[in-house]
Amino acid sequence: MTDSNPDKKLIEDEGPKKSKKKQKKDDAWRPYGPRDPFAMLKTLPEEKQQKIQKALYLFSPGTDMPKTLQQAKRHKYLFWDTQPVPKLGDSITTHGPILQGESSVHKEPYSLPQGFSWDTLDLSSPTVLTELCTLLNENYVEEDDNTIRFSFSLEYLQWALQLPNGLAQWHCGVRVDTNKKLVGFIAAVPARIRVYEMEKLMAQVKFLCVHKKLRLKRMTPVLIRELTRRVNQQGFCQAVYTASVVLPTPLSSCSYWHRPLNLRKLMEVSYPGLRQNINLHRPLKLNRLSEVTKTPGLRPMIKEDVEGIHSLLQTNLCKFHLSPMLSLQEAEQWLLPRENVIDTYVVEQDDGTLTDVVSFYSISSRVLNHPVHTGLRAAHLFYIASTATDPGDLMEDALVLAKSKGFDIFCALDVMDNKSFLKKLKFSISDRSLHYYLYNWTCPTMSPDKVGLVLPN
Ligand SMILES: CC(C)(COP(=O)(O)OP(=O)(O)OC[C@H]1O[C@@H](n2cnc3c(N)ncnc32)[C@H](O)[C@@H]1OP(=O)(O)O)[C@@H](O)C(=O)NCCC(=O)NCCS
Repeated sequence: MTDSNPDKKLIEDEGPKKSKKKQKKDDAWRPYGPRDPFAMLKTLPEEKQQKIQKALYLFSPGTDMPKTLQQAKRHKYLFWDTQPVPKLGDSITTHGPILQGESSVHKEPYSLPQGFSWDTLDLSSPTVLTELCTLLNENYVEEDDNTIRFSFSLEYLQWALQLPNGLAQWHCGVRVDTNKKLVGFIAAVPARIRVYEMEKLMAQVKFLCVHKKLRLKRMTPVLIRELTRRVNQQGFCQAVYTASVVLPTPLSSCSYWHRPLNLRKLMEVSYPGLRQNINLHRPLKLNRLSEVTKTPGLRPMIKEDVEGIHSLLQTNLCKFHLSPMLSLQEAEQWLLPRENVIDTYVVEQDDGTLTDVVSFYSISSRVLNHPVHTGLRAAHLFYIASTATDPGDLMEDALVLAKSKGFDIFCALDVMDNKSFLKKLKFSISDRSLHYYLYNWTCPTMSPDKVGLVLPN
């Protein structure tokens, strides 16, 4: 936090004394706990800070959110059990909406506890975009022990949230009245999604985030309800979203795979899931990549390629049970290279036809309290489609290119046909899962290789 005393600034004294009962209600989202332990922590030497953070993580009770189906079966979903989503454990054979029509769309926004207000974020304003960036970068923790945090750039958020067909009302923020601090956010972008044989306009939900000091106070259900209301208002009845936690009910459960590009650095920052080797000689040799790409005709995508890439992707995506139906405009928005945000490469044959495409987006992270390293750059596999080149060779070239651009690690999900090359290219499976969900839609579950949709956070 940038404030010197964030506890105080987050919610200031509301003035005249209130009755005990009223005070209790108003306190619903009031931050609790000791006076800013993070500020206290920052005054300690680096090494001590890191040890304390690790210890805190190891001894903390956690948020209790289920990470596996087993745990989910024991969890009481007070909110999700009220929502039009399939029940955990149901075996589904039918396809269709759970609730019909939008008859009960609330006219007014859902009410918030006193001291908080809704704010529709105008992301074309650099000031507002910076505020969102701060909320996410301070609170969208990547690793549970709080040593690596996402560090989204303004350009990344513009790419992920400001679509030509996007709706400002779907950038839904919560602010503290007294100091206007942004403490909660949820967003959605419209997308045409194909699920099995059905095509539907859906809201693609992203960037759900609650300020750390307001966690476990049920702000999430209010954010989701309000976004649902705004989505329903536009005539959309379905949504698609992903989460690392198990909610009712995953349509598909996928795994993250990681491929080190800068193994030494990843070891030094104790990147989670990597085996700590004392002797790096052999692993470094095993992970070595060529300095140059090997596919003839491979080059960065340019604007003129949009049509060719669109057709390549759409043909490929038809193979899967869940996939986006991209318009030309969306293909350009999502794939046209933007520095440090999205890279896309195509293979152009001698006659000018495009036969293959591979794209990856970039997410940076801050490494906290490390004496040498301050940041990490991860390339995330987005879409890959090939008709002439072996997908493994194309992906190997993507690794070479990502390394040459200074990325430290390449991450991929085992969706689509990715499993055909992950092991061969020395990706290793992590213990992190990503579950795909549909809101107000029921259909049979699917294996990861039938998922043809990647939702950048
Ligand atoms: C995810 C996050 C918003 C949850 O906030 P929280 O303070 O722990 O939870 P709240 O008390 O506000 O709400 C609890 C409800 O939210 C639900 N919930 C928790 N995480 C959720 C998620 N990622 N997606 C949807 N619902 C979620 C819980 O299941 C619970 O409902 P239930 O009673 O039906 O089980 C918060 O932990 C956060 O900002 N994390 C960092 C960013 C992040 O991981 N975002 C999610 C990306 S998918």
